[in-house]
Amino acid sequence: MTQQKIATIFGATGFIGRYVVQEFAQRGYTIRAASRTPNKAFFLKPCGNVGQVVPFPCDGSKKDIEAAVKNADVVVNCVGILFEKKKDQFTKIHVNLAEQIAKAASKQGVGRLIHISALSCDKAKSKYAKSKLAGEKKVQKAFPDAVILRPSVVFGAEDNFFNMFARLARPSFVCFLPLIGGGETKFQPVSVSDVADAVIEAASAPVGEYKKYAGEVFELGGPDIIDFKGVYDKIKQFTAIKFCTFPLPWGLAKMNAAVLEVLPKPLLTRDQIESLKTDNVVATKAKTFKHLGIEARSMDSVLPEYLGQYSYKKSRAEQLAA
Ligand SMILES: NC(=O)c1ccc[n+]([C@@H]2O[C@H](COP(=O)([O-])OP(=O)(O)OC[C@H]3O[C@@H](n4cnc5c(N)ncnc54)[C@H](OP(=O)(O)O)[C@@H]3O)[C@@H](O)[C@H]2O)c1
Repeated sequence: MTQQKIATIFGATGFIGRYVVQEFAQRGYTIRAASRTPNKAFFLKPCGNVGQVVPFPCDGSKKDIEAAVKNADVVVNCVGILFEKKKDQFTKIHVNLAEQIAKAASKQGVGRLIHISALSCDKAKSKYAKSKLAGEKKVQKAFPDAVILRPSVVFGAEDNFFNMFARLARPSFVCFLPLIGGGETKFQPVSVSDVADAVIEAASAPVGEYKKYAGEVFELGGPDIIDFKGVYDKIKQFTAIKFCTFPLPWGLAKMNAAVLEVLPKPLLTRDQIESLKTDNVVATKAKTFKHLGIEARSMDSVLPEYLGQYSYKKSRAEQLAA
């Protein structure tokens, strides 16, 4: 009897992590869904057969991390935060925890490590970006063959980007949305399914193919490059909500963010404004989806699947009949 391969996913309960779990489950892996709160990972169990997806407690201690990666064939790190609620949280999670996972994977003789970083972390001046870059360096030092994936803004049914703007655009909220810093920042939104496919390709490619990926950084962007106006145009197109936009200079945006930052789950932080000053697009010389043999999905093929829920054009009766 051939033994099932084991994949340990840190951050399995998150937006990207859950798609990664699904893909491994479909390929017959046993999955350790590592989480600080394993109960939160129970919703992942139906992704596989009985006992295939195992919620695994991990409080970030060396002992828990080593237990989670022991005998694993592949380890994926999907842990990350967008804003700090406590001092030095970016460093603790993006740098120290990432290093601990890489060190444990190396010590336990794990075959492959895939680390999710962020596009433009080598260019942007935000604390978020700097911590993601510092994390990459620690991971590369501890596990030189690690495959690093740097996605642009990720879209999908549970995303916090298109969904957030669509929610804000609803007539009951605001009817004006800001073009932050004039709205010229460029994004290259990438589908969460494509990010998961990239993880799977790096995790399960035959040895010969994998040799081309080991130790490399891949920048993951979709086929379309858009600015803020482009984002809002997509929301208008797929929700039929009418709203206006207005330019919000960087200084004013930062002042607004300083107020919003005090919310438990801030809509925007000053550090995110800093990130937005740098384009979020794949560099010309970067390794990309093409090098992983993946053709990325367009926004137009995915956004209607979930932005439609914000549409006010059709009555409820019409929606049910559709
Ligand atoms: N979403 C995007 O658009 C995007 C774009 C570029 C890069 N990325 C990167 O992709 C990765 C995954 O992003 P995501 O959108 O899937 O994030 P997410 O939905 O917020 O999930 C992140 C996961 O990290 C874990 N986590 C959060 N705080 C933690 C802490 N203090 N200690 C340990 N674990 C913690 C959580 O797991 P538990 O609560 O279960 O422990 C959670 O499942 C991150 O590294 C992010 O920087 C995301």
